[in-house]
Amino acid sequence: MLKIGHRGARGYEPENTLVSFQKAMDLQVDGIELDVHLSLDGELMVIHDETIDRTTNSKGEVNTFTRAELQNLNIENNNKIPTLEEVFDLVNRRCFINVELKSFDSAEKTVTLIEKYIQDKNWEYSDFIVSSFDWKALQDVNLRNPKIPIGVLTEADLDEALAFAKIIKAKSIHPDFQLLSKENTAQLQEKGFEVLPWTVNEPADIKKIQSFNVNGIITDFPDRI
Ligand code: G3P
Ligand code: CA
Repeated sequence: MLKIGHRGARGYEPENTLVSFQKAMDLQVDGIELDVHLSLDGELMVIHDETIDRTTNSKGEVNTFTRAELQNLNIENNNKIPTLEEVFDLVNRRCFINVELKSFDSAEKTVTLIEKYIQDKNWEYSDFIVSSFDWKALQDVNLRNPKIPIGVLTEADLDEALAFAKIIKAKSIHPDFQLLSKENTAQLQEKGFEVLPWTVNEPADIKKIQSFNVNGIITDFPDRI
């Protein structure tokens, strides 16, 4: 069962920072999950919210600041917002990277960056999963490069996610863990999809979800898996 660190190891370090991703790897994850938005000057920035209000010492929408401006901001404990490329370099193939696209406009550059690491640095497609709640963004990724593994995110409807996963030939379905049962997990797997639920943190929930034989668990506390 794959152990996937949500926003790194969010339970222990500030989310979506290099120290959080390093902590996740120290906890022997199989993969990390992270969130991506585009900056004003078109850089892929690793941050969850559309705004910088919650996680930094300033306010405003991510896409109204340049990369330089965003990297001048402070996150808790003097951490900085990393670029996606900085995270790829830190990880350096020690675990796979689940890139969650938070906006359609980040799809094209994410494909280009993944292709660069595969062509120039000998990474493999299996080093990546690109997921999104924005299924049009996933369609865009798939049209640009159908070899990139796709994860279909859903917080609402498993049937719709399954139908879309078939169309796009996704690798995995990433449901809110509350949507899952042993039966529907098996049904999704029988159709050929891995099931990677999020965000499972409480020990009792982890135990229950493990009993459904999911393929992996996305969690803030990788050492609890
Ligand atoms: O990718 C799974 C999970 O991260 C989706 O929800 O809001 O934490 O990005 P959120
Ligand atoms: Ca996410």
